[in-house]
Amino acid sequence: MSTQRVLTGITTTGTPHIGNYLGAIKPAIEASEQPNSESFFFLADYHALIKCHDPERVARSTREIAATWLALGLDTDKATFYRQTDVPEITELTWILTCMCSKGLMNRAHAYKASVDANRDAGNEDLDDGVTMGLFSYPILMAADILMFNAHKVPVGKDQIQHIEMARDIAGKFNHTYEELFVLPEAQVDEETQLIPGLDGRKMSKSYDNTIPLFCSSDELRTLINRIKTDLREPGEPKDADSSTIFQLYNLFATRDESAAMRLKFEQGIAWGEAKRELHEFLDAQLAAPRQRYNELMNDLGAVEAILLKGAEKARAEAAPLLERARIAAGIRPLTYVAPKSVKSSEKKKELSAEELARIEEGRRRAILRPVQHLIDAVTAADDPSVAASELLQQKEADLLGLKKKAKQKAENELEALRIELAPFL
Ligand code: TRP
Repeated sequence: MSTQRVLTGITTTGTPHIGNYLGAIKPAIEASEQPNSESFFFLADYHALIKCHDPERVARSTREIAATWLALGLDTDKATFYRQTDVPEITELTWILTCMCSKGLMNRAHAYKASVDANRDAGNEDLDDGVTMGLFSYPILMAADILMFNAHKVPVGKDQIQHIEMARDIAGKFNHTYEELFVLPEAQVDEETQLIPGLDGRKMSKSYDNTIPLFCSSDELRTLINRIKTDLREPGEPKDADSSTIFQLYNLFATRDESAAMRLKFEQGIAWGEAKRELHEFLDAQLAAPRQRYNELMNDLGAVEAILLKGAEKARAEAAPLLERARIAAGIRPLTYVAPKSVKSSEKKKELSAEELARIEEGRRRAILRPVQHLIDAVTAADDPSVAASELLQQKEADLLGLKKKAKQKAENELEALRIELAPFL
């Protein structure tokens, strides 16, 4: 089996909480221990500047997130662990990709659209009020994060799926325009870990102010757990474990047996106060060792810095040669550059696996179809898509006749891609 590259980043604007741990960090660390996988984990500190202009907070969050990964046992000899800003190749690639990305694609990004909608709802005449160019083109920086390391899989939350699709589009456009350099990445979303409840029962998230910081002190942990919402059931009354945030959090950390024992206590009518006490004791015991390690690291930031710099060196050893190839492909070359004698493309293809070839072909097809996406949309929306699809294909076939050689080749490629795309309608 070929090696899968897994890459993910965390924006450095907040303090890591239990939701981040269970939803992202823990599964990532576990995956990094698998054979046949190569992991790239990074602190997305340039992403932080998009939504946070408080320098102390960005710096604090960067320290906290770095120490958290290490306290939880990430093996930095196996995984490549780095800070985005220590790898200048990423921002350099961002520009090349910016020039490969249509503005229309960015207009459709959820984060940008949400700002526009909020302005519209507030009756603001300037729909772009408060939107920086950083926010607008943020998916391109994210695409560079991913493409710079030719990652195959990108574990993310649901809200990020669109960004991975945009990274694929941008990669496809580069590959089609210049040279097949970039892997088309795929989002990896784990439904189960999306459902970590916060203190109020909604998804644990900084924006709801319902989080439990992963490494808060034991006393703070108790105070927060006491804030968990419960219903009015009295001690002795049976309680539904599955709808209780207390049980759900317990369950996420517990073994099967521990979980079953707690479920029984709920059925037997454990008092809410007692359930909270048990949850506190249990989480406190689970988190004590990494918390201690975390506090040690936070008191030895020089050591953490050294680990990050070593990680950046490893990351740059991967990034620099690929960036160089991207620059050369785009024509940014030493004046004396002479192209190496090209390997015959048939020979080159032999070395690629069927899966890689399929991925490349899909990228090529997507790039060809992008300019005619509105036509496909029109077919899909037509009263009779089957008639609309055949009419469109006939029209395109007719167009071919009048074209000169080069334009004709392009139109033929387009027609072929359209035939495949519209086949389901015919
Ligand atoms: N934008 C992501 C988030 O807000 C963080 C991120 C930045 C990221 N670059 C990335 C995640 C690259 C995966 C891959 O969650």
